[in-house]
Amino acid sequence: MHKKLFIPGPIEVKKDVLEKMSTPMIGHRSKEASNLQRDISDKLKKLFYTENEILLSTSSGSGLMEAAVRCCTKKRAAIFSIGSFGDRWHEMAVSNGINADLFSSDLGSITTPQMVEDELSTGKYDLITITHNETSTGVMNPIEEISKVVKKYPDVIFCVDTVSSAGGVKIEVDKLGIDICITSSQKALGLPPGMAICTISDRAVEKARTVKNRGLYFDLVQLYDTVKKKDYQYPSTPNLSIMFAMDYQLDLIMEEGLEERFQRHLEMAEYTRAWAKKNFELFPDEDHASVTLTTVKNTRGISVKDLNSELGKRGFAISNGYGSLKEKTFRIAHMADLTLEDVKELLLTIEDVLSIS
Ligand SMILES: Cc1ncc(COP(=O)(O)O)c(C=O)c1O
Repeated sequence: MHKKLFIPGPIEVKKDVLEKMSTPMIGHRSKEASNLQRDISDKLKKLFYTENEILLSTSSGSGLMEAAVRCCTKKRAAIFSIGSFGDRWHEMAVSNGINADLFSSDLGSITTPQMVEDELSTGKYDLITITHNETSTGVMNPIEEISKVVKKYPDVIFCVDTVSSAGGVKIEVDKLGIDICITSSQKALGLPPGMAICTISDRAVEKARTVKNRGLYFDLVQLYDTVKKKDYQYPSTPNLSIMFAMDYQLDLIMEEGLEERFQRHLEMAEYTRAWAKKNFELFPDEDHASVTLTTVKNTRGISVKDLNSELGKRGFAISNGYGSLKEKTFRIAHMADLTLEDVKELLLTIEDVLSIS
C-alpha cells in the first residue's frame, strides 16, 4: 500500500507530475532543451521574486550548498546553525579546506539578528550562511530581520538554505538581498528528488571568479557562464526527466497562485500547531515555528516508532525526531500539494491510533 507522505521530503508528488517524467528524451544540446531550461528559469525567477539568474544542478540541494561555500568564500565563512543542516554546511566548508566558523543556537531556537551583527561587525567574514527553515527542529529563522543586518555589510555574500521552505513560503530574494538562495526539488516544490536549484546574484558570480580551486562539477562560475553563453544549457548532461516534471509543476504552482499557495501552507501549519498544542506541545517557540513542518514535543512519552508503524498500516507516514530528538519529538510535514483536508485526515488517524481526542 502506498503511504501518503507527511515527511519533510521526499513529499507526495501528484500523479500527473510524476507522469511527466516519462516524456520521451530530447538531446541536451538541442533547441528544445534550451527552451525547457529557459522556461523553468523564468518561472523560478517569479517564485523567488528575483531578477537574478537561476542555476539548476543535477544533484540534491547539498550539491549547491557545498558549491556556494566553496566558490564564494575567499576570507572566512560565518556559518550560522540552528540544527543538523546548518552543522552540515559547516562540515562542507571545512572538508573543502575553507576557513569557517560555526555559530550554533540551542536546538529549537533561532539565529538572532544580534548574533549575525556581532560576527559580521568583526570584519573577519566575506560569506555568511543561514538556514531559513531547519527541517531537523521545525524552526523557521526570521530571515527578514537577519537580512536587514546582512545588508549593512555589502562585501559579505549572503547564502540561504531554503531547501525545505521554497515553494511553501514567500521568499523575496531581491528584497532580502540574498546572493545565493538554494532549494531542492523534493520538498515544498512538490517534485521527486534529484535536482537542486539556486538563484545567484552577479555579485556572487563576480566574487567566485576571484576564488581559486572551485572544483569542476559544482563550479558556480562554469555553470553560470554556460547558462549565459549556451542559451540555458549546462556543462554536463542534466536530469531532463525531472525538468519535464518541473516545468509542468511550476505551471500548476502558478495556476494555483503563489499567494494562495503560501496561504494554504500557513493554514495547514496553523491547524497542525493548534492540534499539537491541544494534544502535546510544540517543540519550537510558536513565533518561530516552521510553516512547512510541525515538530511536536512528545510530552505523552509515546513510542514514535510504534505510532509510525501503526500509521503505516493505515496508509500514512510521518517522521520521527531528527538525531538526538528521535523519540523526544515527531515531525509532521505539511508541504507541497497536501491540503488542509489531508492534514485533518492524518491528525484524526493519529488520535485514533493513540486513543486521544
Ligand atoms: C534544511 C535542509 N537543508 C539541506 C538539506 C539537504 O538537502 P538535500 O537532501 O536535497 O541535499 C535538507 C534535506 O532534508 C534540509 O531539510
